[in-house]
Amino acid sequence: MIIVKLGGSVISNKNKPFSFNENVVENLAEEISQFYPEKKFLVVHGGGSFGHPLAKKYELRKGLNEERKVGFSYTHEAMLELNKKIINIFLEKNLPAFSVSPSSIFLIEKGEIVEGWLKIIEELLDKDFIPVLFGDVAIAKDKGIDILSGDQIISFLANKMKPEKVIFLMDVDGIYTKSPEEKDAELIEVIDEKLKPEGKAGVYDVTGGIKNKIEQALKMPCQVYFINGMIKGNLTKAIKGEKIGTRKKL
Ligand code: IPE
Repeated sequence: MIIVKLGGSVISNKNKPFSFNENVVENLAEEISQFYPEKKFLVVHGGGSFGHPLAKKYELRKGLNEERKVGFSYTHEAMLELNKKIINIFLEKNLPAFSVSPSSIFLIEKGEIVEGWLKIIEELLDKDFIPVLFGDVAIAKDKGIDILSGDQIISFLANKMKPEKVIFLMDVDGIYTKSPEEKDAELIEVIDEKLKPEGKAGVYDVTGGIKNKIEQALKMPCQVYFINGMIKGNLTKAIKGEKIGTRKKL
């Protein structure tokens, strides 16, 4: 089984609320269809311009209070709307994508999954469905409510389900030594223990998402790719195990 993360900035324009990159998702579904059903897939997509603006507006990360209850539900509904757009594109390609709401199967604490019910996902995969999960709101043991990121879901699933590989689709070519906007930023082809944030080698964004992404990738019991999902053919290369983007040293 291969886990594919459709990053929020790949499927939507994060600066434009409720935008959807239909062509990009169509191309990705087409590439997956070339390998299905010989290979099994599980897809997780991000919140992009659907989830993030609402999560921010309702300050969901601050936890449960009376006013935020409606916002919690609105944010989930916005994610369902985005999820439906993605599922429909997969179905048009004859891929049996099936929506699974993370907020219905996971309980979280400090932003991480502490309880998960995976039976349905296992059954869906066993029957050659393509489960499609997404960054979602979630019931939290500490704050009552919180946001659950797609990356957290993938870490949990990778450790429990032992996939063949995990492929993160991003809007840049992989992981860089500096912010990719900087002129002398270099793409890191292979990440290993030395690139851990406490290690010596330089990697940008050590407090943010990238640090966490590398740490989590190194812990996963499988190959991990970080590739540019906006470029046609990249996903195919990663599925085939070719050299593309940033991958883990095995
Ligand atoms: C965020 O999910 C979900 C919500 C804001 C509800 P992710 O953290 O996985 O989303 P992206 O990939 O950054 O957009």
